Amino acid sequence: IKTIDDLDVNGKRVLVRADLNVPIEDGEVADDTRIKRVLPTISKLKQGGAKVILMSHLGRPKGERSPETSLRPVAERVEKLLNGGPVLFLDDCVGPDVEKGLETLATGDVAVLENLRYHKGEESNDLGFARQLAALGDIYVDDAFSSAHRAHASVEAIAHLMPAYAGKLMMAEISALRTALADPERPVMAIVGGAKVSTKIDVLKNLATRVDVLVVGGGMANTLLNAQGVNVGNSLYEPDFVETVKDVLASAKRAGCEIFLPVDEVVAKELAPGTEWAVCDVNAIPSDMMVLDQGPKSIERLKARLGEMRTLLWNGPLGAFEVAPFGKGTLALAEESGRLSKEGKLISIAGGGDTVRALNMVGATPDFTYVSTAGGAFLEWLAGRQLPAVIALASGQVNAKHEAV
Ligand code: 3PG
Repeated sequence: IKTIDDLDVNGKRVLVRADLNVPIEDGEVADDTRIKRVLPTISKLKQGGAKVILMSHLGRPKGERSPETSLRPVAERVEKLLNGGPVLFLDDCVGPDVEKGLETLATGDVAVLENLRYHKGEESNDLGFARQLAALGDIYVDDAFSSAHRAHASVEAIAHLMPAYAGKLMMAEISALRTALADPERPVMAIVGGAKVSTKIDVLKNLATRVDVLVVGGGMANTLLNAQGVNVGNSLYEPDFVETVKDVLASAKRAGCEIFLPVDEVVAKELAPGTEWAVCDVNAIPSDMMVLDQGPKSIERLKARLGEMRTLLWNGPLGAFEVAPFGKGTLALAEESGRLSKEGKLISIAGGGDTVRALNMVGATPDFTYVSTAGGAFLEWLAGRQLPAVIALASGQVNAKHEAV
């Protein structure tokens, strides 16, 4: 993959695909983490004398314009964060008006185009739409790792149409995931949590053959426990996946991967704040109760095992962490992994919205070695799948398929 490190961009129009898909509340950006993470690329291009054109999707508008999915507030935030010179917002992403607007850009200027998904050609990876986008710039830079699992025009087709480079965030994300999975310092532990096994079954399958310890948490753990004969009471679990999970357990065994499950649980009759709760042994879950967090013994055991690890890869909470007091396990784990990382004992890589929220809740984010901006793309990578946008960038040249059209 070619990077922007040694790229001469002086006077060039650089079309940057960023992932500016951020939460908008009351017409304002509610969390600008993703915008901040793309700033190093923007600044480098500006300093190099480029005219920077940012493009992104926001939400899932399915071709329909609406104020809730407009990138206008994002452009305003970009301007604020860049702290120098106005940022030009154009209310479309292709067409003559956009082309005219971009003619006003001077060296070092920045423009933000309107939501790519207002055009159906974006999601259908339409070549004609990609050509219209490509016509706006001289060089293409992809800095949207978190959209790399989508074979969409602005990340896939376009990369075959013009000189294509990876931005700084894209490279940082790829290199962090390689550190954790392709060539990790061992022993390596992966923690996979969340509500449903069905959404992460391929992640479990892949990790079970690659890491030394695989910790399964959240509702997912219930299905694994059930596969081992544990009665999980009234808990969320997926009977249809019990057989698949048994295969995962068997392949982990063959690969010498230890599957780490809770030994005690926090249970309650319902998931509600202030509800009555209790701690019980994993083999004594009452039939009318549901598991909502891992118990204190499980957490201590997990912390001790984590202390023996060199690398941690984490995606998904251990319990219903957004409802107190069921976040104790997840938050204790966030604190402990942050502490070990800060002391230089652990290489820690985390990704996914819930996990990042948990890290933020205890202030552990800065201590982590790497926190990914990606959700779906992070999971696809953990599942061992190749990401279409990364393949397109790596192919590095105009694809015959596209040339022929
Ligand atoms: C994300 O938030 O994971 C990315 O921006 C991709 O968004 P999407 O799931 O709507 O494609």
